[in-house]
Amino acid sequence: MALFHTREKFLPFCRPTIQEDEISEVLDCLKSGWITTGPKTARLEEEFHAWSGGQEAIAVNSATAGLHLAIITLDLAPDDEIITTPVTWPSTVNNIEICGCRTVFADVDRDTLQISPGEIEARITGRTRAVIPVHFAGAPCDLDPIRKICQRHNLSLIEDAAHAVGTRYRNRLIGSNSEVAVFSFHPIKNMTTGEGGMILCGDSERAQRMRMLRFHGISRDAWRRYAKGGVPQYEVIEPGYKYNMLDIEAAMGIHQFRKLPAFNQRRRELAENYRALLADVPEVMPLEPPDYDHEHAWHLFVVRIDTDRLDITRDEFMLKLQEKNVGTGLHFPAVHLQSYYRKKYGFSRGMYPNAEWNSDRLFSLPLYPLLSEDDQAYVVNAMKDIIRHCRPKGKTS
Ligand SMILES: Cc1ncc(COP(=O)(O)O)c(C=O)c1O
Repeated sequence: MALFHTREKFLPFCRPTIQEDEISEVLDCLKSGWITTGPKTARLEEEFHAWSGGQEAIAVNSATAGLHLAIITLDLAPDDEIITTPVTWPSTVNNIEICGCRTVFADVDRDTLQISPGEIEARITGRTRAVIPVHFAGAPCDLDPIRKICQRHNLSLIEDAAHAVGTRYRNRLIGSNSEVAVFSFHPIKNMTTGEGGMILCGDSERAQRMRMLRFHGISRDAWRRYAKGGVPQYEVIEPGYKYNMLDIEAAMGIHQFRKLPAFNQRRRELAENYRALLADVPEVMPLEPPDYDHEHAWHLFVVRIDTDRLDITRDEFMLKLQEKNVGTGLHFPAVHLQSYYRKKYGFSRGMYPNAEWNSDRLFSLPLYPLLSEDDQAYVVNAMKDIIRHCRPKGKTS
């Protein structure tokens, strides 16, 4: 059996692809005399508007901020309920709480980790007002049945599309026909602005309100007050937030967005390669792509370790990969088991079995355009080496 040699250089879990065109556009911005929200942000918004087939595009400083604006503009009453998935980044759910609503979880499909439409419908009560599904890992959730449920029960549908820029569901881009969808441009995402996000919205009145609320709730942002022809006077329409995207960030985003199809294609190739490399490793179970028609953006490559066949926990497995100089990610430990949610709602193990089963076993492998096939072979060999050393005695496969 070949001896495993640990590589010298750490292989990070993520790394953005920043090239000369991003750098020179940022420099152009820095030298221009205008670095906060202005013409470059407007350009990025126009490009998203056109790409989405005419949706309103509102650039914000994170997807978290975008989700907050999407919920706050529903004008919900305290204790109204919003249904979401327990397998997400905490901010999806924290925003529900921050807006004074109650979180109701619906379990996910065990092998795609997409929220289950049947589970959503089973959790609807007289107080349910909205559903926030997540397009998990870059695959779409099953939007048609979820939309039908929302229409039947008169619920809003806010799509957490943080992972899904470029994802298609039944040949339509995510966000292109949404009530509201929110993308993230955090550095680990498929395209980045450093920090940032984009809201796509089909309702121009609501979009106008989100645009105003992203900048203090006043009638004119800085560009429209200080640029040539601007009017310095302003009016507070409604107390708002400080969620605007900077032009420095948008400068990066303009070029990242142009390269998105190439970035996503490279991610797809790498994901297929991981699947091939892992085909003969039964202890490592990648997520299954959904069985409905879709195009995956491959934001994450999530695997589950078969802890029933191995003498090792998921956390120990991740540590051993660290020792072998491989970075990994954790997307996501089930939110309902986080202390705030346990305490407030009395959630405990057993309530969302598919989320919990995955929560104990999953982690994410490095996946980004700068990764090489040699890097991937190394990652898989490192996992095989760990598995060889932690099979229960007497078991050889
Ligand atoms: C599913 C999901 N929703 C929302 C967010 C928040 O994105 P941001 O970091 O841009 O606020 C993330 C971030 O990773 C995410 O994974």
